[in-house]
Amino acid sequence: LFNSIELLPPDALFGIKQRYGQDQRTIKVDLGIGAYRDDNGKPWVLPSVKDAEKLIHNDSSYNHEYLGITGLPTLTSNAAKIIFGTQSEALQEDRVISVQSLSGTGALHISAKFFSKFFPDKLVYLSKPTWANHMAIFENQGLKTATYPYWANETKSLDLDGFLGAIQNAPEGSVFVLHSCAHNPTGLDPTNKQWVQIVDAIASKNHIALFDTAYQGFATGDLDKDAYAVRLGVEKLSTVSPVFVCQSFAKNAGMYGERVGCFHVALTKQAQNKTIKPAVTSQLAKIIRSEVSNPPAYGAKIVAKLLGTPELTEQWHKDMVTMSSRITKMRHALRDHLISLGTPGNWDHIVNQCGMFSFTGLTPQMVKRLEETHAVYLVASGRASIAGLNQGNVEYVAKAIDEVVRF
Ligand code: LMR
Repeated sequence: LFNSIELLPPDALFGIKQRYGQDQRTIKVDLGIGAYRDDNGKPWVLPSVKDAEKLIHNDSSYNHEYLGITGLPTLTSNAAKIIFGTQSEALQEDRVISVQSLSGTGALHISAKFFSKFFPDKLVYLSKPTWANHMAIFENQGLKTATYPYWANETKSLDLDGFLGAIQNAPEGSVFVLHSCAHNPTGLDPTNKQWVQIVDAIASKNHIALFDTAYQGFATGDLDKDAYAVRLGVEKLSTVSPVFVCQSFAKNAGMYGERVGCFHVALTKQAQNKTIKPAVTSQLAKIIRSEVSNPPAYGAKIVAKLLGTPELTEQWHKDMVTMSSRITKMRHALRDHLISLGTPGNWDHIVNQCGMFSFTGLTPQMVKRLEETHAVYLVASGRASIAGLNQGNVEYVAKAIDEVVRF
């Protein structure tokens, strides 16, 4: 029965994690998967998360009952405020639908299911390059994907003209998947001024903006600054098209394995009537019920406590600054080591990029040699998770890069 089933290669990112785990060399460095590590190279449980967990366990009403199909309301409503802002007109006008999802991937999956059910002919545009999983999530639901130019390799900067051109040339009403901040894999974000141009172009063609927001707090350490693009999109598109937001708390709350996220739909002002919101909500609930029945509760309760308890929220903001500033420090350390080694090339992009990743510019051959000769693991595209660097390994990594660049 199964003879014709093709063997697939391991997932590119999780394959790195596996190879790294099996590597017996004493010095090895994992710059693969995007997960924060502390200065000892260890996973970090945020102090705010630890405190939130204590509160949950001390609560006498604590239990493991099912959540409702659309999730924990104290999570979804507070999560909406985090991304749209407490002053959001869309929230004040009660035209945002928020449901819980299995982290960002689950939110993207719900959006893909929703599009494939109601708008199966829409083309979904992804940045080139984009997160390795984006294309599969949409194509698995039978949607057609296309790409828009993003990264200009020669200048290691944004190909704004190419980006705007793709928006202009796409069939009217297409879906544009946008990384709200800390673009994965390039670490390169449009400036606020460029975002205005991008959103205006999207509006002029009645396209749909779908923001993937997995790194809010990682670009600048400030949740509001990192939500600029989403808030701009919701405001400028409010009379044009609904805005979709796929929100993850994996990275900014360090809740990787708990799969906490939300899927939001900001309806247009015209859709602000008594029928559309409940109808769309009911369809999203149907998707969720048929796939996971109801979302997982434990991580949702933790993040809901973080967002709903002022002292914990304050600590969480500090935790995000701890993470983002350590990453920034490591960007500078790596760049400075490469400069003092005289490594051929210009390495300033490492400090100019933001978020968890640097698109280093290393070729697949160099990446292969880094892994084979130096036990330094990164993605073949040259993407390095800067969070994997620390005081103890950054010089080693710089020397390894120096060797492979000169080889
Ligand atoms: C990454 O890009 O490394 C992360 O988003 C992890 C993943 O699931 O791919």
